[in-house]
Amino acid sequence: MADRYLHLTGTAPGRFLTRRLGLPQPAPLRRWSLQTPRLDGPLLHLTAGDSAITDELAKALAATGLTVDAQAARPAGIVLDATGVTSARGLAEVHAALHPVVRSQAPGGRIVVIGTPPSPEDHHQAAAQQALEGFVRSLGKEIGCGSTAQLLRIPAGAAPGAAESTLRFLLSPRSAYVSGQVIELTTAAPGPVADQHAPLAGRTALVTGAARGIGASVASVLARDGAHVIVLDVPRAQDDLVRTADRLGASALPLDITAPDAAARIAAAAPDGLDVLVHNAGITRDRRLANMPADRWAQVIDVNLDSVLRTTDELLTSGTLNRGGRVVATASIAGIAGNNGQTNYAASKAGVIGLVRSLGPRAAAEHGVTVNAVAPGFIETKMTAAVPLFIREAGRRMNSLSQGGLPVDVAEAVAWFAQPGSAAVNGQVLRVCGQSLLGA
Ligand SMILES: NC(=O)c1ccc[n+]([C@@H]2O[C@H](COP(=O)([O-])OP(=O)(O)OC[C@H]3O[C@@H](n4cnc5c(N)ncnc54)[C@H](O)[C@@H]3O)[C@@H](O)[C@H]2O)c1
Repeated sequence: MADRYLHLTGTAPGRFLTRRLGLPQPAPLRRWSLQTPRLDGPLLHLTAGDSAITDELAKALAATGLTVDAQAARPAGIVLDATGVTSARGLAEVHAALHPVVRSQAPGGRIVVIGTPPSPEDHHQAAAQQALEGFVRSLGKEIGCGSTAQLLRIPAGAAPGAAESTLRFLLSPRSAYVSGQVIELTTAAPGPVADQHAPLAGRTALVTGAARGIGASVASVLARDGAHVIVLDVPRAQDDLVRTADRLGASALPLDITAPDAAARIAAAAPDGLDVLVHNAGITRDRRLANMPADRWAQVIDVNLDSVLRTTDELLTSGTLNRGGRVVATASIAGIAGNNGQTNYAASKAGVIGLVRSLGPRAAAEHGVTVNAVAPGFIETKMTAAVPLFIREAGRRMNSLSQGGLPVDVAEAVAWFAQPGSAAVNGQVLRVCGQSLLGA
């Protein structure tokens, strides 16, 4: 559904009127396209404290294809290496580094603060590194103009190149609707990527719920990145599913993901195994708990959570998920913040977060597979078009970017998780919500 307010504020009279009324001013977001694959301007690489990763970070930043310029007057990206900030006093260097440059950043820019995991043994280091989280989340709310701010934690002993895929994502138009997020890497070594334009070449990906909405967009972005895609949806959505498959050169698998033999049928559809499994299928059956019959509760838990657990377990243990594989599940900010009328849905989506955090480390150790989740906020789809007008408007505006996201914003995050280069990204839940105030 079109966001008419965003169009209105894109016109001079609309901007004038809404400013006079003190209304939100969403900036049009610049997303990835063949014509705009990169940020439009140079990158500023700053350091606070004594960093042990300066050279490694410089290499990773050079790999983004952006020009790193220490004198950039109008940087499109600013990376502040604060891994060496280990005390409350040291935080002054964070202020000293960013205060003079934050105003000069180009619209639609990216700020990435690099930290390191807070130490369980050193409470001064832990306090300083945790402080960076509050700092970044506040900065995301302040900077405006469609710009974003994130905290990327790189652990001591990270493998060379471990942060590269994440920096490529965060410092690009692909992360347009991601802000105020904290991502913590592991020490796992990245898998090889021969061609950055087709990082999923030679890989097979299956996307559930792919006949329409976010799932169709995920399938499209994974195909763009070179994967052979299998699109799955319920048999009654077969016409849309086949249309999506034909458009992408994908294979269609009409199947209800809650069927008892779902994992076996997925395995049969991928004789060479799966490299990427995206659990996107999801339903809502909203009702306040007092009015909710057991069947509405059960349907939502079954589709959104139980089938995700069952198929993931079976595809891992049967070896259908190849080593180096990626599981990406779909949570929701409702699973973080809770939502009136959505006890079933929020429980299912919080369950997905529990699954990811628990299984991620074990799946990596036992099967060489990472497990992550996206948690979309308000995304413009048929699901959200059905939301009553005033709640829909509130959902759109109550975030740092003052607008809803598009399915492609979620899809780009899934594609980043799915890359062979993202082996160090595991057990993470990335909110794709424009830094929604809900559950923030
Ligand atoms: N749209 C949003 O704002 C938003 C926000 C947070 C989370 N999400 C989540 O993102 C995912 C996609 O949402 P969407 O807005 O594109 O929804 P959508 O309703 O447009 O699409 C969901 C797809 O899943 C399919 N599906 C449902 N049950 C299935 C089953 N049993 N087996 C196979 N396929 C099934 C549907 O047929 C449909 O094609 C869902 O998991 C949803 O909970 C969406």
